[in-house]
Amino acid sequence: MSDTPKKLSTDAYKGVRDFFPVDMAVQRHIFNIWETTSKKYGYEEYGASVLEPADLYRAKTGEEIINEQTYSFIDRGDREVTLRPEMTPTLARMVAARKRELTFPLRWYSIPNLFRYEQPQRGRVREHWQLNVDIFGVESLAAEIEVISMAYDITRAYGLKDTDFEIRLNSRRLMHYVTADVFNLDEHQSHTISKLIDKKDKVKADWFEAAAMEILGDNTPKFLTLLNSKNFEEFTTNLPQTAEEHKGLSEVRQVIAGLEKLGITNTRFDQTLMRGFDYYTGIVFEVFDLNPANRRAVLGGGRYDDLLSLFGNEKVTAVGFGAGDVTARDLMETYNALPAAPSSADIMICVVGEHNIPYALDVAQKIREKGQRIAVDLSIKKLGDQISHANKRGIPKIIVIGDEEVSTGKLKTKDLKTGEEQELIG
Ligand code: HAM
Repeated sequence: MSDTPKKLSTDAYKGVRDFFPVDMAVQRHIFNIWETTSKKYGYEEYGASVLEPADLYRAKTGEEIINEQTYSFIDRGDREVTLRPEMTPTLARMVAARKRELTFPLRWYSIPNLFRYEQPQRGRVREHWQLNVDIFGVESLAAEIEVISMAYDITRAYGLKDTDFEIRLNSRRLMHYVTADVFNLDEHQSHTISKLIDKKDKVKADWFEAAAMEILGDNTPKFLTLLNSKNFEEFTTNLPQTAEEHKGLSEVRQVIAGLEKLGITNTRFDQTLMRGFDYYTGIVFEVFDLNPANRRAVLGGGRYDDLLSLFGNEKVTAVGFGAGDVTARDLMETYNALPAAPSSADIMICVVGEHNIPYALDVAQKIREKGQRIAVDLSIKKLGDQISHANKRGIPKIIVIGDEEVSTGKLKTKDLKTGEEQELIG
């Protein structure tokens, strides 16, 4: 005798979300903000598969993501496959593949779903959607200024005021100068210390100091003073004073000044902002909500001038950022900026008498041809129930079809809020 099979759980897989219509409406609203802003700046949409060869991420994505956060498997043809944890390597691959045919500068955007095996918590899930905005082929800081101004517009469109958030900036070039030239570290040590700085806010101060000591020895106090500088000016004065300003310092200064010219003043230099990926080469930035309810970056990105060299010898400069849907939604909740649920139709036809349904379907079809969104209530419930159903769905108008309407052919729309009736012509 076989046991009754165990019933399946209705839960979604751990860390991923189902999108019921109310959630989908919010998601659509977020995507609309992303698409409108990208198009406003002249960006073209692209897309790709979620499946990529695992090798794509080995060189530059960063150890944490590769070793701990990817969903990887071996396919039936013995290939190692990864569900994309980010879009940047895919984008670099695509641009490298068509480099000769493409006209630069390229301005591209995409809204992919990405998979990361993370511990699910507020702001972090295992599948999220991420706007990716990237510009290729512009060497000047005008590229950084453009994409950061897009990031600013997007954050404002989520419903935040300038005083609610901060655009934090740093320069990988500057930090490399600090580790390699000021503290004389070799490439390996520089890499280790930059990963350590990336962790600074997540670990205890004495653990951080001990780890820094292992690499920097006697220089640790000097390094900590620099890292704890209160602002850009203090950081600059803590560096060796040379006749000429280091390029890394001047690029931070120029980007902040360029944004100020566009009226964007909520920027802040942050020497502890490293960003996890190994491919960044210049300015890196993140948008931070200042509300303690959302302690995650709203979005983040930077310049990556060498990523395309993974695919060939030619270099193409690039700057971009990624903005996630989860943080966007959390922000909108915090700031009461969630969109009102949209109605599913402009008009509901309420049908009295099952035999009148074919007539109602025909009327609906004719009205749809004129571009209105119209649904027919097929429940054959009492008229009052049908009207309250339309009301619940936020449908603003109804048309009642019963024997009289069918015999006279005279139809009226009724506004459920005002009670106003209007004859339907044609
Ligand atoms: P990222 O900082 O890893 O950058 O991700 C960008 C944004 O995606 C984050 O600020 C956050 O809003 C969201 N995000 C990331 N991981 C998760 C997660 N597990 N759950 C929810 N949201 C998440 C990148 O991915 C770079 N590839 C961005 C980029 C584009 N850089 C240059 N171009």
